[in-house]
Amino acid sequence: MSAVASTTGICTRRELLQLAAGGGLCAGALAGLGGPAVATSAATVAPRLRDLAAAGGRFYGAATGRRQLEADPDFARCFAAECGLLVPENELKWRALRPAPDQFDFSGADWLVAFARRQGLLVRGHTLVWHDALAPWLQTVRRARDAEQLLGAHIAAVVGRYAGQMHSWDVVNEVINPEDGRADGLRASFWHARLDSAYIELAFHQAAAADPAARLVLNETQIEYDDDASARRRDHLLALLQRLLAKGVPVHALGVQSHLVGHVASDFHALADFLDEVERLGLRLIVTELDVRDWELPAEPAARDAAVAAVYADYLAMMLPRPNLDGVVTWGLSDRYTWLSEYGARADGAPVRPLPFDHACQRKLAWSAISTALQTVANKTRT
Ligand code: G3I
Repeated sequence: MSAVASTTGICTRRELLQLAAGGGLCAGALAGLGGPAVATSAATVAPRLRDLAAAGGRFYGAATGRRQLEADPDFARCFAAECGLLVPENELKWRALRPAPDQFDFSGADWLVAFARRQGLLVRGHTLVWHDALAPWLQTVRRARDAEQLLGAHIAAVVGRYAGQMHSWDVVNEVINPEDGRADGLRASFWHARLDSAYIELAFHQAAAADPAARLVLNETQIEYDDDASARRRDHLLALLQRLLAKGVPVHALGVQSHLVGHVASDFHALADFLDEVERLGLRLIVTELDVRDWELPAEPAARDAAVAAVYADYLAMMLPRPNLDGVVTWGLSDRYTWLSEYGARADGAPVRPLPFDHACQRKLAWSAISTALQTVANKTRT
């Protein structure tokens, strides 16, 4: 039974679901909420997610952007207080980095790496190769040898620039897409069209050469649930990982994006079995983009927050104790800045509430769920 606690009380998942169904919320889960992430006095110092994660040998962090941190000091303080790792949400994608074939614009990524260094945060790079957020001029590149040269030079320049500063890199992102009809389940992307599956090996070898210290990650999405489509994606993904490792391709970890939904309760049993197989390959694991979409949940914030927190609790109860897990990244920290405001908007127009902090950067039940899960692992690490 997963449980959710505030800094002072325990609220079981059953009580969260009762709240989600319109019941009352246990006093404990309310007691620690609402406070700012940044302590206003010793009496209000609450355990920060970064410290709870570190106590259990993991990291906790979030994706964010330069624009948010630069323009919003309250948010920047909340981020620096609670996170032990930063992922540039968009600043390391081709569209941001490559305004022209012979140009790089590192200004956004440099600013974020410098912010992280000032605040003592780890940094994850996201992402070197993806079918989305491409530079528009790339469509003019058609020949395989041009694409290979371009991809190799891009990775050498970008990974080389931050060599020694990155905890890990999402080298390739979302390469599986069975809907494209290929026998190997690979996505029919810009890179695949020009280099077939060799682009994946090229990317990992190039990244390893440019920064031998970085953990190299294959990042994937929509593999979390127990449905047939996710099962098919997991099967293709496992086969791809086995092929790459058999060829000596330097893949060090699997990134599990973990974009979950609040209206589907799951113990994530099928994913757990799959991750057992992945760990048996010797790969590390990172939860890379955790959030819980609330578009099918009741509009009432307290009930919605309880249902979202229950999903965080269930998912992390399965994921956090895993021996090969490096850490957890939420895709955003506060509901004030989430991609789901645009890409996962609710039909009723109510502001979405997918993240650990609300629009006012106050802790939510989701924060308690994450905090409790991290505390549980930390307690086991100490015994
Ligand atoms: O920066 C421009 C701005 O100048 C312009 O005025 C504005 C309107 O067109 O667009 C801005 O760029 C947007 C960018 O986010 C920065 O806000 C892009 O249009 C928009 O498509 C982009 O969306 C990002 C999306 O990836 C596509 O790159 C989301 O913020 C980001 O959260 C999302 O993250 C992805 C991960 O990288 C991979 N996994 C899935 C995840 C969610 O889609």
